[in-house]
Amino acid sequence: MSVKDRRQLIIGNWKMNGLKAQRAEIETLIAGRKRLGAGPDVVICPPHTLVNEYAHLAGNDMQIGGQDCHALENGAFTGDISAEMLQDAGASFVIVGHSERRQYHQESDSIVAAKLAAAWRAGLHPILCVGESLAEREAGATLSVINRQIDGALSPNRNVALFSLAYEPIWAIGTGKTPTSHEIAEIHAHIRQKLLGFDDRLGGTRLLYGGSVNPQNAGAILALPNVDGALVGGASLKSQDFLAIIAAAVQR
Ligand code: PGA
Repeated sequence: MSVKDRRQLIIGNWKMNGLKAQRAEIETLIAGRKRLGAGPDVVICPPHTLVNEYAHLAGNDMQIGGQDCHALENGAFTGDISAEMLQDAGASFVIVGHSERRQYHQESDSIVAAKLAAAWRAGLHPILCVGESLAEREAGATLSVINRQIDGALSPNRNVALFSLAYEPIWAIGTGKTPTSHEIAEIHAHIRQKLLGFDDRLGGTRLLYGGSVNPQNAGAILALPNVDGALVGGASLKSQDFLAIIAAAVQR
């Protein structure tokens, strides 16, 4: 896949937000997405409880993703949900290795690798998240952390299939802070080279930026070289804000 073929991908990560009663929000979003016509690929990752309903509502206008999955297909794992279950409910994407999972659920790189394999097994498109903490950034360890997380997720997998990768500096998530444009471009260029070095088929992997993307900064971020989309948390909860971000996507 050449760089030209990388249509931008805008993903809304609702995290632990969303009730059936807020259906009007998703309906406004789907209608707005339709009005915008051709544009980026758009995915909403609602809580698991809404995946099935939203997959029906979205039809072909948007795709639905899970926010996490278990590594195994089924079994005695109370409270967990498998990639096959997400697929069965109508999801076509799944986020793996989000920093909140790594932090609050002690997900190691090897667990993330197994979840990546689970997504592929179930026919889902995984969104692999990587990113450094503030302390790691201040220690000058940003690139080594990203390298470790990419190697940790990909190396145990013998056959690497299609996925997208989101660079999300932890200190930028939900804080209103973002790296400078120069920093984002530099880190994405590094990740592009790293993936190419891993396997030249990975040159077409879509690289998303995530962390405090909003309608004001989306245009500048999405125009950067090697930025193929955005992973949006807080601003994806309001349909008007999320639609403005979708409208800011760049056609390459
Ligand atoms: P944010 O979250 O847009 O609210 O910073 C991004 C994410 O965690 O995916």
